[in-house]
Amino acid sequence: MQMDSERILVTGSAGFIGSHVCGALLSRGARVVGVDNLDPFYDPDRKRLNHDALIGAHPERFVWHEVDITGAGTIETIMRDAGVTGVIHLAAKAGVRPSIEDPGGYALANVVGTQRVLSAASAAGCARVVCASSSSVYGNNTKTPFGEEDSVEHPISPYAATKRACELIGETHHRLTGMAVAMLRFFTVFGPGQRPDLAISLFLERVSRGETISKFGDGTTSRDYTYIDDIVAGVLSAYERIGDHGYRIWNLGGDHPITLNELIGAVERVVGREAVIEQMGMQAGDVDRTWADLSRSRAELGYAPTTSIEDGIARQFAWMRDVGLVGDQGTGA
Ligand SMILES: NC(=O)c1ccc[n+]([C@@H]2O[C@H](COP(=O)([O-])OP(=O)(O)OC[C@H]3O[C@@H](n4cnc5c(N)ncnc54)[C@H](O)[C@@H]3O)[C@@H](O)[C@H]2O)c1
Repeated sequence: MQMDSERILVTGSAGFIGSHVCGALLSRGARVVGVDNLDPFYDPDRKRLNHDALIGAHPERFVWHEVDITGAGTIETIMRDAGVTGVIHLAAKAGVRPSIEDPGGYALANVVGTQRVLSAASAAGCARVVCASSSSVYGNNTKTPFGEEDSVEHPISPYAATKRACELIGETHHRLTGMAVAMLRFFTVFGPGQRPDLAISLFLERVSRGETISKFGDGTTSRDYTYIDDIVAGVLSAYERIGDHGYRIWNLGGDHPITLNELIGAVERVVGREAVIEQMGMQAGDVDRTWADLSRSRAELGYAPTTSIEDGIARQFAWMRDVGLVGDQGTGA
């Protein structure tokens, strides 16, 4: 897909998924305007490095603005000045557990922030907005795999509730303005650049140093981990095709859920060292399982995840070594 005529504003451009999405858009010829407030949830220097890499590779087609999306007016001005054709909205306070500590902050950034982005986009004449939702909206549903038409009325964390609220706001906004809006339910994303608070990052770092990892629950909880390149392919396809749908929700998962015990085993094999485990109780807000039904996204987006969990973890570990997040301990695999 060539995108030479597109000028796309990406919110959360300095983050894990946002920086990969920007890179993919730029490599397809698009002009990209990044927006990010460098939220201190994790080291803002990591985020600055992400932007520096994008500017270094595409100095003529990437710019970014340090802006908070919850502030009225500014993003609309940025969109108008840049003649933006569409928006990929990834900025959010992410993470289930911290949302229990700061539900108000999550509601502001995620719910108010999403409404501001949608309002600015339609006011600035954008044709489409693709937004990040989350598998967490399925709560503790027991029917698997999770399909887009399943009930999502019982989220179990403030984070999940904000993401469900964003879906409803997106659908309402589409009905009122006609602007095309896609909501993508990402299932735990991993790979180079993964957020440092997520299990695979934490486990790779600690196991490679011989440090203890915390295992929450008995290890039978499961997640449908999704490799970052597969997510990026789904985001770009949704951007290209949402105009045919008006408003649509799509699952983007990996299609191979694994248990926490299996994940720890995969990390041990990649690092070449046995994990030292501290057994903990289940954490509030954590769901028991996730597993994406990909029928709709395969049929409508041509979405087909290709990277296995172990290959993906090995690539993430190699990246962590390259950037100095882990030393040369372990044999790798
Ligand atoms: N990583 C996952 O496994 C996963 C799973 C499901 C959904 N998601 C969603 O995908 C999106 C990207 O997640 P990520 O893992 O890349 O997280 P991330 O924290 O790396 O990126 C989010 C970015 O948004 C920015 N941001 C936060 N609040 C902002 C605000 N008010 N104004 C401007 N920028 C703001 C942050 O500084 C950060 O750079 C989020 O919407 C997240 O909820 C992620």
